[in-house]
Amino acid sequence: MEDLFDGSRRDSLRLQLLGWGDKLSEILNAAIELRLFTKVSAGADTVPAIAEALDILPLNAERLVLACVAMDLLRRDGDRYRNAPDVERFLVAGRKNYQGPWFRWWRKKDHPGWHRLADYLRRKDAPAVIGELYAHHTVEEARDFHEGMYAVGMGAAHLFHRTVDLSARRLILDLGGGSGHYCIVAAEKYPAIRGIVFDLPPVVEVTREYAAKSGYSDRITAQGGDFTADPLPAGADVVLLNGNGTIYGPDTMRAIVAKAHDAMAPGGEMHIIFEMLDDDRSGPVNAALFGLYEALMGSEGRAHSVTDVAGYMRAAGFVDVSIHDFLGRYIRRVTGLKK
Ligand SMILES: C[S@@+](CC[C@H](N)C(=O)[O-])C[C@H]1O[C@@H](n2cnc3c(N)ncnc32)[C@H](O)[C@@H]1O
Repeated sequence: MEDLFDGSRRDSLRLQLLGWGDKLSEILNAAIELRLFTKVSAGADTVPAIAEALDILPLNAERLVLACVAMDLLRRDGDRYRNAPDVERFLVAGRKNYQGPWFRWWRKKDHPGWHRLADYLRRKDAPAVIGELYAHHTVEEARDFHEGMYAVGMGAAHLFHRTVDLSARRLILDLGGGSGHYCIVAAEKYPAIRGIVFDLPPVVEVTREYAAKSGYSDRITAQGGDFTADPLPAGADVVLLNGNGTIYGPDTMRAIVAKAHDAMAPGGEMHIIFEMLDDDRSGPVNAALFGLYEALMGSEGRAHSVTDVAGYMRAAGFVDVSIHDFLGRYIRRVTGLKK
């Protein structure tokens, strides 16, 4: 897919594919909605069996299967089909890693302005500090969003806790922690660690539901507030700021990181994880995309580079600031210590 973005082609193929990219997304989402991958995994592995399992015409089953094979979502062996490995891992309903709710949220609730992006880019009214999605979240909307966020975030939380050892730590403050998945995995792994999820007031009602469901309400608490404006709970020796970077502009990011630094215990560590640009700002595309998304949200948010983020940490007083690939270069972690 990466060479799709290589502009040195002599034909217009990459331009065609980019212009049509939303159709590829619709194919994936239709397959998820129809439970194609779930049924294939359960044994419906021929076109007639798929048609029956999905209750669609064989002609439409064949159309969908061909498109999924061309996109390497399904793989063919004779007249039998199986899910590609990542599809089998993440898109089979009922599995622990199932990310269907995340895709469902984007498909149904994503900002309708994407199809009028040029109009949004022409807007000249002053951007807000906090974008539309978060500024006006109701509890119901937050519950819906975090069902998806939890589905995809649990994998990230496990990855984080496999990579970073918090065995000597006592208290995590997760800024914008949402459903609290980073604290839930920490609670599973470390018997004494506690976590405070600090998130917007409607969201923490949902956080408490996830904490209760996980069985760790005694060690995971939630505090409602706006980390751009309100004081933060003091004394944590781990602070997380994950999945929030592109929502905010550089001044706000600098201020949040400085506030976190001041609130945490000496010797503590802070981790910032999100889609960051390379140092030379030439990609990756998901970091640029999330920055652009903020034009729809009417916020000051934008893409930040790894160097920008490391700079916010150093300016706040963090030492030993280091940059790590988290999900390859597509999501990065920047870490610093408070002296
Ligand atoms: C994309 S989600 C990320 C959730 C989680 N940290 C993760 O990485 O999976 C962003 C979260 O930050 C929260 N958030 C955004 N701005 C905030 C603010 N100013 N104060 C508190 N929470 C905020 C949102 O409500 C949401 O739960």
